[in-house]
Amino acid sequence: MRIGLLTGGGDCPGLNAAIRAVVKQGLGEYGHSIIGFRNGWKGVVDGDVLPLERQHIRNVLPVGGTLLGTARFHPREEDGSMEAVLATLEAERIEALICIGGDGTLHAASRVADAGVKIVAIPKTIDNDVAGTDLSIGYNTAVTIAAEAIDRIHTTAESHNRVMVIEVMGRHAGWIAVNAGIAGGAEIVLAPEEPFDMDKIIKFLKHRHKAHASFSIVVVAEGAHAVPGSSMEYEVQLGKYGEIVAGAIGERVAAEIQARTGFDTRLTVLGHVQRGGSPTTTDRILGSRFGVAAVDAITRGESNVMTALRGEEIVLVPLPEVAGKVKAVPADLLRTARALA
Ligand code: F6P
Repeated sequence: MRIGLLTGGGDCPGLNAAIRAVVKQGLGEYGHSIIGFRNGWKGVVDGDVLPLERQHIRNVLPVGGTLLGTARFHPREEDGSMEAVLATLEAERIEALICIGGDGTLHAASRVADAGVKIVAIPKTIDNDVAGTDLSIGYNTAVTIAAEAIDRIHTTAESHNRVMVIEVMGRHAGWIAVNAGIAGGAEIVLAPEEPFDMDKIIKFLKHRHKAHASFSIVVVAEGAHAVPGSSMEYEVQLGKYGEIVAGAIGERVAAEIQARTGFDTRLTVLGHVQRGGSPTTTDRILGSRFGVAAVDAITRGESNVMTALRGEEIVLVPLPEVAGKVKAVPADLLRTARALA
């Protein structure tokens, strides 16, 4: 078979593990051809192909990013790019396509499947918010980096008696903020799932610093927002391309704490540090398992499905049921983060 392969959306650690697994399983086990497309859907529109051989996947397992490149671009009917996708797939005689991506890429994949293309999707996003799977590629590395950053920032917080605000990624869901906050021992975690009330935060910090502590760690997800009508009005700020403006919520929260408590307060915006570097073993293994499962599924004739981790098992879930849906942090996890503050 001729199988197409692309990585779309933001890069993350573990993508190369998945690409490597697709190539190894495809070429080695079944004798398929694996045709990579450069830069996500953009490469499919442009017909920018890289037929993948063993030499391309040598030594890539511990390397972050994606050897295929990626882009924040999704094909649309309105501008003819969907038609261009279908034309390229036909010209390249692609019999099935493996799409590795987050919400935007998977949503596009579902629409391409509707147009009659055989698709198997693989979930990746450091935000871990793809529905239908316990884990997405990239999240474990990102949360590990964020927790390590909190550990490092702790020493400055304690030595200088400061409030340290740390902004982490997480646009629609607060998985990184909540779990890095728990793992790093944060006093306060602000996540999109639970709008915050600045009055309560100020009260808590004043009480804590008077009673028994001289420092505090506050972790803020970039998509966090205040309770409407509360003392700190805040709405998520978006840039030119609909992306969240990095640092905006962190700056606002840090300024408010400094002004209303008088405590020396500093902000660290972790940004793309969370998306870079070598993948953890969890992401290497997850990417490898998803890659093998995707090729097996295509070879069996499956289509319009996504590989998913459920407990210890890799399963297939219907793509239309999960594409574009957000998996929020569950209430019990939010409660745990609160309980440990
Ligand atoms: O989707 C993953 C993510 O890392 C989000 O957490 C973040 O909002 C976004 O990507 C940043 O995207 P970009 O690198 O395009 O600015």
